[in-house]
Amino acid sequence: MPVRAVIGTQFGDEGKGKIVDFLSENADIVVRYAGGGNAGHTVVNRLGTFKARIVPVGMFTETVRLCVIGRGTVPDVRNIIDELKICAEKKIDVNRLMVDSSAHLIMPWHIAEDRLLEEAKGDGKIGTTGNGIGPCYSDKILRRNLRAGDLLNFEVFEKRFIKLKAEKRAYLLGQYSEHFENCASGCLFCEPMGRTDSEDIAEFKNHISCLANWFGGLENLICDTLPVLWNAVDNNERILLEGAQGALLSIDGGSYPYVTSSNTGAASASQGSGIPPNKIREVIGVAKAYMSRVGNGLFPTRMAPKMEKKMREHGKEYGTVTGRPRNCGWFDAPALERVLKENGITYLAITLLDILDHAERIGIGNGYNCIKSGDEGICFDAEHMLRSDNPKAAITYIDGWGPDKTVRGCKDLDSLPENEKRYIEFIEKSCGRKIKIISTGAAREDTIVIY
Ligand code: IMO
Ligand code: MG
Repeated sequence: MPVRAVIGTQFGDEGKGKIVDFLSENADIVVRYAGGGNAGHTVVNRLGTFKARIVPVGMFTETVRLCVIGRGTVPDVRNIIDELKICAEKKIDVNRLMVDSSAHLIMPWHIAEDRLLEEAKGDGKIGTTGNGIGPCYSDKILRRNLRAGDLLNFEVFEKRFIKLKAEKRAYLLGQYSEHFENCASGCLFCEPMGRTDSEDIAEFKNHISCLANWFGGLENLICDTLPVLWNAVDNNERILLEGAQGALLSIDGGSYPYVTSSNTGAASASQGSGIPPNKIREVIGVAKAYMSRVGNGLFPTRMAPKMEKKMREHGKEYGTVTGRPRNCGWFDAPALERVLKENGITYLAITLLDILDHAERIGIGNGYNCIKSGDEGICFDAEHMLRSDNPKAAITYIDGWGPDKTVRGCKDLDSLPENEKRYIEFIEKSCGRKIKIISTGAAREDTIVIY
Protein backbone atom coordinates (compact mmCIF):
# COMPACT_ATOMS: atom_id res chain seq x y z
CA MET A 1 0.00 0.00 0.00
CA PRO A 2 1.59 3.29 -1.04
CA VAL A 3 2.00 6.35 1.12
CA ARG A 4 -0.90 8.62 0.24
CA ALA A 5 -1.28 12.36 0.69
CA VAL A 6 -4.65 14.07 0.96
CA ILE A 7 -4.52 17.73 0.02
CA GLY A 8 -6.99 20.60 -0.33
CA THR A 9 -7.25 21.95 -3.89
CA GLN A 10 -9.25 25.15 -3.26
CA PHE A 11 -9.39 27.80 -0.52
CA GLY A 12 -9.52 25.32 2.38
CA ASP A 13 -12.63 23.79 3.95
CA GLU A 14 -12.92 21.29 1.09
CA GLY A 15 -13.97 18.47 3.39
CA LYS A 16 -10.50 17.03 3.94
CA GLY A 17 -11.60 15.83 7.40
CA LYS A 18 -14.36 13.70 5.91
CA ILE A 19 -12.07 12.19 3.25
CA VAL A 20 -9.18 11.48 5.63
CA ASP A 21 -11.65 9.88 8.03
CA PHE A 22 -13.04 7.73 5.23
CA LEU A 23 -9.54 6.65 4.16
CA SER A 24 -8.47 6.07 7.77
CA GLU A 25 -10.42 2.83 7.73
CA ASN A 26 -7.56 1.53 5.61
CA ALA A 27 -4.65 3.26 7.28
CA ASP A 28 -2.17 2.36 9.99
CA ILE A 29 -0.67 5.81 10.44
CA VAL A 30 -2.03 9.33 9.84
CA VAL A 31 0.32 12.33 9.82
CA ARG A 32 -0.68 16.02 9.87
CA TYR A 33 2.12 17.72 8.01
CA ALA A 34 1.43 21.49 7.90
CA GLY A 35 -0.57 24.32 9.44
CA GLY A 36 -1.81 24.60 12.98
CA GLY A 37 -4.94 25.64 14.83
CA ASN A 38 -6.13 27.57 11.78
CA ALA A 39 -7.45 24.27 10.40
CA GLY A 40 -10.81 22.82 11.32
CA HIS A 41 -11.33 19.25 10.15
CA THR A 42 -14.77 17.82 10.79
CA VAL A 43 -15.38 14.11 11.22
CA VAL A 44 -18.72 12.35 11.59
CA ASN A 45 -18.32 8.64 12.25
CA ARG A 46 -19.38 5.82 14.55
CA LEU A 47 -17.58 7.39 17.52
CA GLY A 48 -19.30 10.78 17.17
CA THR A 49 -18.75 14.20 15.60
CA PHE A 50 -15.33 15.77 16.03
CA LYS A 51 -13.68 19.00 14.98
CA ALA A 52 -9.92 18.59 14.91
CA ARG A 53 -7.62 21.58 14.63
CA ILE A 54 -4.27 19.90 15.16
CA VAL A 55 -4.54 16.20 15.96
CA PRO A 56 -4.68 14.04 12.85
CA VAL A 57 -8.17 12.93 11.99
CA GLY A 58 -6.96 9.31 12.26
CA MET A 59 -7.29 9.66 16.06
CA PHE A 60 -11.02 9.09 15.58
CA THR A 61 -10.53 5.68 14.00
CA GLU A 62 -9.57 3.10 16.61
CA THR A 63 -7.78 0.83 14.15
CA VAL A 64 -5.25 3.55 13.22
CA ARG A 65 -2.17 2.54 15.18
CA LEU A 66 -0.35 5.87 15.24
CA CYS A 67 -1.07 9.56 14.63
CA VAL A 68 1.73 12.08 14.16
CA ILE A 69 1.74 15.86 14.41
CA GLY A 70 4.53 16.36 11.91
CA ARG A 71 7.53 18.64 11.94
CA GLY A 72 5.97 20.99 9.36
CA THR A 73 3.11 21.98 11.66
CA VAL A 74 2.91 24.81 14.18
CA PRO A 75 1.00 23.33 17.11
CA ASP A 76 -0.44 25.29 20.00
CA VAL A 77 -0.05 23.02 23.03
CA ARG A 78 -3.48 24.12 24.28
CA ASN A 79 -5.12 22.79 21.12
CA ILE A 80 -3.40 19.43 21.56
CA ILE A 81 -4.63 19.16 25.15
CA ASP A 82 -8.19 20.21 24.28
CA GLU A 83 -8.42 17.65 21.53
CA LEU A 84 -6.89 14.87 23.62
CA LYS A 85 -9.43 15.65 26.33
CA ILE A 86 -12.21 15.13 23.82
CA CYS A 87 -10.64 11.82 22.79
CA ALA A 88 -10.32 10.74 26.42
CA GLU A 89 -13.98 11.63 27.09
CA LYS A 90 -14.96 9.37 24.21
CA LYS A 91 -12.69 6.64 25.57
CA ILE A 92 -10.44 6.94 22.53
CA ASP A 93 -6.90 5.77 23.31
CA VAL A 94 -4.80 8.96 23.35
CA ASN A 95 -1.55 7.04 23.56
CA ARG A 96 -1.45 6.71 19.81
CA LEU A 97 -0.24 10.29 19.32
CA MET A 98 3.29 11.57 18.70
CA VAL A 99 4.46 15.13 18.13
CA ASP A 100 7.63 15.64 16.16
CA SER A 101 10.26 17.38 18.28
CA SER A 102 11.06 19.77 15.39
CA ALA A 103 7.54 21.22 15.15
CA HIS A 104 7.59 24.93 15.95
CA LEU A 105 5.34 25.92 18.84
CA ILE A 106 2.79 28.72 18.84
CA MET A 107 3.64 31.10 21.66
CA PRO A 108 1.44 33.81 23.23
CA TRP A 109 3.38 36.50 21.35
CA HIS A 110 2.58 34.91 17.98
CA ILE A 111 -1.11 35.29 18.69
CA ALA A 112 -0.68 38.90 19.82
CA GLU A 113 1.42 39.73 16.76
CA ASP A 114 -1.05 38.07 14.37
CA ARG A 115 -3.85 40.25 15.72
CA LEU A 116 -1.78 43.44 15.85
CA LEU A 117 -0.60 42.94 12.27
CA GLU A 118 -4.20 42.51 11.13
CA GLU A 119 -5.41 45.55 13.03
CA ALA A 120 -2.64 47.67 11.54
CA LYS A 121 -3.55 46.57 8.00
CA GLY A 122 -6.99 48.20 8.24
CA ASP A 123 -8.86 47.59 4.97
CA GLY A 124 -6.03 45.43 3.65
CA LYS A 125 -6.56 42.78 6.32
CA ILE A 126 -5.83 39.19 5.29
CA GLY A 127 -8.65 37.98 7.53
CA THR A 128 -6.45 35.47 9.34
CA THR A 129 -7.87 33.08 11.91
CA GLY A 130 -5.91 34.93 14.62
CA ASN A 131 -4.11 31.83 15.81
CA GLY A 132 -0.57 33.15 15.42
CA ILE A 133 0.17 31.10 12.31
CA GLY A 134 1.91 33.79 10.20
CA PRO A 135 4.15 35.11 13.00
CA CYS A 136 5.13 31.57 14.08
CA TYR A 137 6.13 30.56 10.56
CA SER A 138 8.02 33.83 10.06
CA ASP A 139 9.89 33.35 13.32
CA LYS A 140 10.71 29.83 12.15
CA ILE A 141 12.37 31.27 9.07
CA LEU A 142 14.10 33.90 11.21
CA ARG A 143 15.39 31.10 13.47
CA ARG A 144 13.95 32.44 16.69
CA ASN A 145 11.34 29.96 17.86
CA LEU A 146 10.82 27.35 20.49
CA ARG A 147 10.15 23.87 19.19
CA ALA A 148 8.25 20.97 20.69
CA GLY A 149 11.51 19.20 21.59
CA ASP A 150 12.53 22.16 23.75
CA LEU A 151 9.77 21.21 26.19
CA LEU A 152 11.76 18.10 27.08
CA ASN A 153 14.38 20.22 28.82
CA PHE A 154 12.23 22.63 30.75
CA GLU A 155 15.05 24.63 32.34
CA VAL A 156 16.40 25.57 28.94
CA PHE A 157 12.87 26.12 27.62
CA GLU A 158 12.11 28.51 30.47
CA LYS A 159 15.25 30.57 29.90
CA ARG A 160 14.67 30.87 26.16
CA PHE A 161 10.98 31.58 26.66
CA ILE A 162 11.71 34.52 28.95
CA LYS A 163 14.36 35.91 26.61
CA LEU A 164 12.25 35.55 23.45
CA LYS A 165 9.20 37.00 25.15
CA ALA A 166 11.13 40.06 26.35
CA GLU A 167 12.51 40.66 22.85
CA LYS A 168 9.14 40.24 21.21
CA ARG A 169 7.40 42.37 23.80
CA ALA A 170 9.83 45.25 23.26
CA TYR A 171 9.39 44.94 19.51
CA LEU A 172 5.60 44.85 19.62
CA LEU A 173 5.36 47.71 22.10
CA GLY A 174 7.53 49.83 19.83
CA GLN A 175 6.00 48.79 16.53
CA TYR A 176 2.40 49.08 17.65
CA SER A 177 2.78 51.85 20.22
CA GLU A 178 -0.39 53.52 19.00
CA HIS A 179 -2.42 50.45 19.76
CA PHE A 180 -0.97 50.07 23.22
CA GLU A 181 -1.45 53.77 24.01
CA ASN A 182 -5.10 53.64 23.05
CA CYS A 183 -6.16 50.38 24.49
CA ALA A 184 -7.37 49.53 27.93
CA SER A 185 -5.09 46.79 29.21
CA GLY A 186 -6.45 43.29 28.92
CA CYS A 187 -7.84 43.75 25.42
CA LEU A 188 -7.83 40.91 22.93
CA PHE A 189 -4.41 41.89 21.57
CA CYS A 190 -2.59 42.77 24.73
CA GLU A 191 -3.84 39.97 26.93
CA PRO A 192 -1.47 37.30 25.66
CA MET A 193 1.46 39.68 26.20
CA GLY A 194 0.17 41.12 29.47
CA ARG A 195 0.74 38.06 31.64
CA THR A 196 3.82 37.85 33.81
CA ASP A 197 6.60 35.41 32.93
CA SER A 198 5.83 33.32 35.97
CA GLU A 199 2.16 33.07 34.98
CA ASP A 200 3.19 31.91 31.51
CA ILE A 201 5.75 29.45 32.82
CA ALA A 202 3.26 28.05 35.33
CA GLU A 203 0.79 27.50 32.50
CA PHE A 204 3.34 25.62 30.40
CA LYS A 205 4.30 23.53 33.42
CA ASN A 206 0.66 22.61 33.86
CA HIS A 207 0.33 21.59 30.24
CA ILE A 208 3.47 19.52 30.42
CA SER A 209 2.48 17.64 33.53
CA CYS A 210 -0.94 16.96 32.05
CA LEU A 211 0.65 15.53 28.89
CA ALA A 212 3.37 13.67 30.79
CA ASN A 213 0.67 12.00 32.91
CA TRP A 214 -1.29 10.91 29.88
CA PHE A 215 1.73 9.52 28.06
CA GLY A 216 3.74 8.15 30.98
CA GLY A 217 6.47 10.73 30.31
CA LEU A 218 6.62 13.61 27.85
CA GLU A 219 9.30 11.84 25.81
CA ASN A 220 6.70 9.27 24.79
CA LEU A 221 4.71 12.02 23.11
CA ILE A 222 7.39 14.37 21.81
CA CYS A 223 10.15 12.67 19.85
CA ASP A 224 11.95 12.36 16.54
CA THR A 225 9.16 10.81 14.51
CA LEU A 226 11.16 10.41 11.30
CA PRO A 227 12.77 7.03 12.09
CA VAL A 228 9.34 5.79 13.19
CA LEU A 229 7.85 6.83 9.85
CA TRP A 230 10.78 5.50 7.77
CA ASN A 231 10.42 2.16 9.54
CA ALA A 232 6.71 2.12 8.82
CA VAL A 233 7.41 2.83 5.12
CA ASP A 234 9.91 -0.05 5.04
CA ASN A 235 7.32 -2.32 6.64
CA ASN A 236 4.71 -1.38 4.06
CA GLU A 237 2.42 0.15 6.62
CA ARG A 238 -0.43 2.16 5.19
CA ILE A 239 0.37 5.84 5.75
CA LEU A 240 -1.90 8.80 5.12
CA LEU A 241 -0.53 12.33 5.05
CA GLU A 242 -3.25 14.77 6.06
CA GLY A 243 -3.08 18.23 4.55
CA ALA A 244 -4.56 21.40 5.98
CA GLN A 245 -5.79 24.53 4.18
CA GLY A 246 -5.87 24.44 0.39
CA ALA A 247 -3.69 25.03 -2.65
CA LEU A 248 -5.16 28.47 -3.38
CA LEU A 249 -4.20 29.52 0.16
CA SER A 250 -0.67 28.16 -0.18
CA ILE A 251 2.16 30.62 0.45
CA ASP A 252 3.90 29.81 -2.85
CA GLY A 253 1.02 28.86 -5.12
CA GLY A 254 -1.98 30.69 -3.71
CA SER A 255 -3.64 34.09 -4.05
CA TYR A 256 -0.80 35.98 -2.37
CA PRO A 257 -0.88 37.96 -0.10
CA TYR A 258 -4.29 36.59 0.91
CA VAL A 259 -2.88 33.20 1.85
CA THR A 260 -1.81 31.25 4.88
CA SER A 261 1.89 31.09 5.79
CA SER A 262 2.71 27.50 4.87
CA ASN A 263 2.84 25.42 1.75
CA THR A 264 -0.18 23.21 1.73
CA GLY A 265 0.42 20.76 -1.13
CA ALA A 266 2.05 17.48 -2.01
CA ALA A 267 5.65 18.69 -1.75
CA SER A 268 4.93 19.97 1.72
CA ALA A 269 3.50 16.56 2.64
CA SER A 270 6.99 15.16 2.20
CA GLN A 271 8.82 18.08 3.76
CA GLY A 272 6.44 18.38 6.70
CA SER A 273 6.43 14.67 7.55
CA GLY A 274 10.01 13.70 6.70
CA ILE A 275 8.84 10.93 4.36
CA PRO A 276 10.88 11.15 1.12
CA PRO A 277 8.97 12.49 -1.91
CA ASN A 278 9.49 9.32 -3.98
CA LYS A 279 7.63 7.28 -1.37
CA ILE A 280 4.40 9.25 -1.85
CA ARG A 281 2.68 7.27 -4.57
CA GLU A 282 -0.80 8.76 -4.50
CA VAL A 283 -1.89 12.36 -4.08
CA ILE A 284 -5.60 12.68 -3.50
CA GLY A 285 -6.97 16.13 -4.25
CA VAL A 286 -10.07 17.10 -2.28
CA ALA A 287 -12.41 19.55 -4.00
CA LYS A 288 -15.80 20.79 -2.95
CA ALA A 289 -18.51 20.46 -5.60
CA TYR A 290 -18.85 24.23 -5.27
CA MET A 291 -16.33 26.46 -3.52
CA SER A 292 -16.04 28.54 -0.38
CA ARG A 293 -13.66 31.09 0.97
CA VAL A 294 -13.36 32.62 4.41
CA GLY A 295 -11.15 35.64 5.02
CA ASN A 296 -10.28 38.21 2.37
CA GLY A 297 -8.86 37.94 -1.12
CA LEU A 298 -9.99 37.27 -4.66
CA PHE A 299 -12.82 34.85 -5.40
CA PRO A 300 -13.59 34.90 -9.14
CA THR A 301 -16.47 32.41 -9.09
CA ARG A 302 -18.33 33.97 -6.16
CA MET A 303 -22.09 33.42 -6.41
CA ALA A 304 -24.79 36.07 -6.53
CA PRO A 305 -25.93 36.98 -3.00
CA LYS A 306 -29.20 35.03 -2.98
CA MET A 307 -27.61 31.81 -4.16
CA GLU A 308 -24.65 32.29 -1.85
CA LYS A 309 -26.94 32.63 1.13
CA LYS A 310 -28.75 29.45 0.19
CA MET A 311 -25.55 27.44 -0.21
CA ARG A 312 -24.17 28.87 3.04
CA GLU A 313 -27.21 27.76 4.99
CA HIS A 314 -27.50 24.30 3.46
CA GLY A 315 -23.75 23.69 3.45
CA LYS A 316 -23.31 25.08 6.99
CA GLU A 317 -20.63 27.30 5.56
CA TYR A 318 -19.41 28.91 8.75
CA GLY A 319 -15.77 28.75 9.84
CA THR A 320 -15.07 25.79 12.14
CA VAL A 321 -12.39 27.76 13.98
CA THR A 322 -13.74 31.32 13.89
CA GLY A 323 -17.46 30.89 13.18
CA ARG A 324 -17.21 33.47 10.36
CA PRO A 325 -19.69 33.07 7.49
CA ARG A 326 -17.90 31.72 4.43
CA ASN A 327 -18.36 33.21 0.99
CA CYS A 328 -19.59 30.69 -1.56
CA GLY A 329 -18.81 30.35 -5.25
CA TRP A 330 -19.06 27.96 -8.17
CA PHE A 331 -16.46 25.39 -9.13
CA ASP A 332 -13.39 27.04 -10.68
CA ALA A 333 -12.14 24.61 -13.35
CA PRO A 334 -8.97 26.40 -14.64
CA ALA A 335 -7.79 27.05 -11.07
CA LEU A 336 -8.26 23.37 -10.27
CA GLU A 337 -6.43 22.30 -13.40
CA ARG A 338 -3.41 24.35 -12.36
CA VAL A 339 -3.48 22.93 -8.83
CA LEU A 340 -3.71 19.37 -10.18
CA LYS A 341 -0.64 19.87 -12.33
CA GLU A 342 1.30 21.59 -9.58
CA ASN A 343 0.65 18.78 -7.12
CA GLY A 344 0.67 15.73 -9.37
CA ILE A 345 -2.81 14.80 -8.19
CA THR A 346 -3.53 11.12 -8.85
CA TYR A 347 -7.29 11.38 -8.46
CA LEU A 348 -9.97 13.61 -7.01
CA ALA A 349 -12.38 13.31 -4.12
CA ILE A 350 -15.44 15.52 -4.60
CA THR A 351 -17.25 16.57 -1.44
CA LEU A 352 -20.51 18.24 -0.41
CA LEU A 353 -22.19 17.20 -3.62
CA ASP A 354 -25.46 16.84 -1.71
CA ILE A 355 -25.52 20.59 -1.07
CA LEU A 356 -26.04 21.13 -4.81
CA ASP A 357 -29.43 19.40 -4.35
CA HIS A 358 -30.54 22.91 -3.49
CA ALA A 359 -29.37 24.58 -6.71
CA GLU A 360 -31.85 24.77 -9.60
CA ARG A 361 -28.93 25.41 -11.91
CA ILE A 362 -25.30 24.80 -11.26
CA GLY A 363 -22.57 27.16 -12.34
CA ILE A 364 -19.10 26.19 -13.49
CA GLY A 365 -16.29 28.68 -13.87
CA ASN A 366 -14.42 27.68 -17.01
CA GLY A 367 -12.39 30.81 -17.67
CA TYR A 368 -12.09 34.41 -16.56
CA ASN A 369 -13.61 37.48 -18.11
CA CYS A 370 -10.51 38.91 -19.60
CA ILE A 371 -8.39 40.58 -17.07
CA LYS A 372 -5.32 41.21 -19.19
CA SER A 373 -5.26 44.96 -19.76
CA GLY A 374 -6.57 46.07 -23.13
CA ASP A 375 -7.71 42.57 -24.11
CA GLU A 376 -11.25 41.38 -24.40
CA GLY A 377 -12.69 37.91 -24.15
CA ILE A 378 -12.09 34.93 -21.97
CA CYS A 379 -8.77 34.15 -20.39
CA PHE A 380 -8.00 30.61 -19.18
CA ASP A 381 -4.83 31.43 -17.38
CA ALA A 382 -5.29 30.71 -13.68
CA GLU A 383 -1.86 32.06 -12.84
CA HIS A 384 -2.76 35.39 -14.38
CA MET A 385 -6.05 35.28 -12.50
CA LEU A 386 -4.20 34.72 -9.22
CA ARG A 387 -2.16 37.85 -9.84
CA SER A 388 -5.13 40.02 -10.73
CA ASP A 389 -7.09 42.38 -8.62
CA ASN A 390 -10.61 41.07 -8.05
CA PRO A 391 -10.91 38.87 -11.17
CA LYS A 392 -14.30 37.57 -12.28
CA ALA A 393 -14.96 34.16 -13.77
CA ALA A 394 -16.99 33.42 -16.86
CA ILE A 395 -19.67 31.05 -15.62
CA THR A 396 -21.70 28.56 -17.65
CA TYR A 397 -24.71 26.86 -16.14
CA ILE A 398 -26.15 23.38 -16.31
CA ASP A 399 -29.49 22.23 -14.88
CA GLY A 400 -29.47 20.96 -11.34
CA TRP A 401 -31.05 17.65 -10.31
CA GLY A 402 -32.83 18.38 -7.07
CA PRO A 403 -34.47 18.78 -4.73
CA ASP A 404 -36.82 15.95 -5.70
CA LYS A 405 -33.84 13.83 -6.81
CA THR A 406 -31.47 14.14 -3.92
CA VAL A 407 -27.91 12.78 -3.93
CA ARG A 408 -27.80 12.97 -0.13
CA GLY A 409 -26.63 9.69 1.30
CA CYS A 410 -26.22 8.01 -2.12
CA LYS A 411 -23.80 5.14 -1.83
CA ASP A 412 -23.34 3.98 -5.40
CA LEU A 413 -22.90 5.59 -8.77
CA ASP A 414 -26.02 4.03 -10.28
CA SER A 415 -28.33 5.77 -7.85
CA LEU A 416 -27.05 9.24 -8.80
CA PRO A 417 -29.34 11.45 -10.91
CA GLU A 418 -28.38 11.82 -14.61
CA ASN A 419 -27.53 15.54 -14.35
CA GLU A 420 -25.27 14.83 -11.45
CA LYS A 421 -23.34 12.30 -13.53
CA ARG A 422 -23.01 14.96 -16.23
CA TYR A 423 -21.59 17.38 -13.70
CA ILE A 424 -19.06 14.82 -12.51
CA GLU A 425 -18.05 14.07 -16.11
CA PHE A 426 -17.63 17.78 -16.75
CA ILE A 427 -15.26 18.15 -13.83
CA GLU A 428 -13.23 15.13 -14.94
CA LYS A 429 -13.01 16.40 -18.50
CA SER A 430 -12.10 19.96 -17.57
CA CYS A 431 -9.18 18.96 -15.39
CA GLY A 432 -8.17 15.65 -16.93
CA ARG A 433 -8.25 13.67 -13.68
CA LYS A 434 -10.43 10.83 -12.51
CA ILE A 435 -12.88 11.33 -9.68
CA LYS A 436 -12.67 8.28 -7.47
CA ILE A 437 -14.47 9.37 -4.34
CA ILE A 438 -17.72 11.30 -4.07
CA SER A 439 -19.04 12.44 -0.73
CA THR A 440 -22.82 12.69 -0.50
CA GLY A 441 -23.17 13.55 3.19
CA ALA A 442 -21.16 14.39 6.30
CA ALA A 443 -21.06 10.85 7.68
CA ARG A 444 -18.30 8.44 6.73
CA GLU A 445 -20.71 6.00 5.09
CA ASP A 446 -22.22 8.65 2.80
CA THR A 447 -19.51 8.03 0.26
CA ILE A 448 -19.34 6.63 -3.26
CA VAL A 449 -16.14 4.99 -4.44
CA ILE A 450 -15.69 4.67 -8.20
CA TYR A 451 -13.33 1.89 -9.27
P1 IMO B 1 -8.78 23.90 6.73
O1 IMO B 1 -7.63 22.97 7.03
C1 IMO B 1 -10.21 27.76 5.36
C2 IMO B 1 -7.47 31.20 5.78
C3 IMO B 1 -7.91 32.30 6.71
C4 IMO B 1 -7.27 33.49 6.04
C5 IMO B 1 -5.94 32.93 5.56
C6 IMO B 1 -4.78 33.20 6.49
O2 IMO B 1 -9.93 23.77 7.64
O3 IMO B 1 -9.13 23.83 5.28
P2 IMO B 1 -4.09 32.14 8.83
O4 IMO B 1 -4.80 32.12 10.16
O5 IMO B 1 -3.77 30.80 8.29
O6 IMO B 1 -2.89 33.05 8.84
O7 IMO B 1 -5.13 32.84 7.83
O8 IMO B 1 -6.14 31.54 5.42
N1 IMO B 1 -7.44 29.83 6.34
C7 IMO B 1 -8.36 28.89 6.12
N2 IMO B 1 -9.52 28.92 5.42
N3 IMO B 1 -9.82 26.62 5.92
C8 IMO B 1 -8.65 26.53 6.58
O9 IMO B 1 -8.16 25.37 7.05
C9 IMO B 1 -7.88 27.72 6.75
N4 IMO B 1 -6.73 28.01 7.36
C10 IMO B 1 -6.46 29.29 7.08
O10 IMO B 1 -9.31 32.41 6.76
O11 IMO B 1 -7.99 33.87 4.92
MG1 MG C 1 -11.45 25.25 7.92
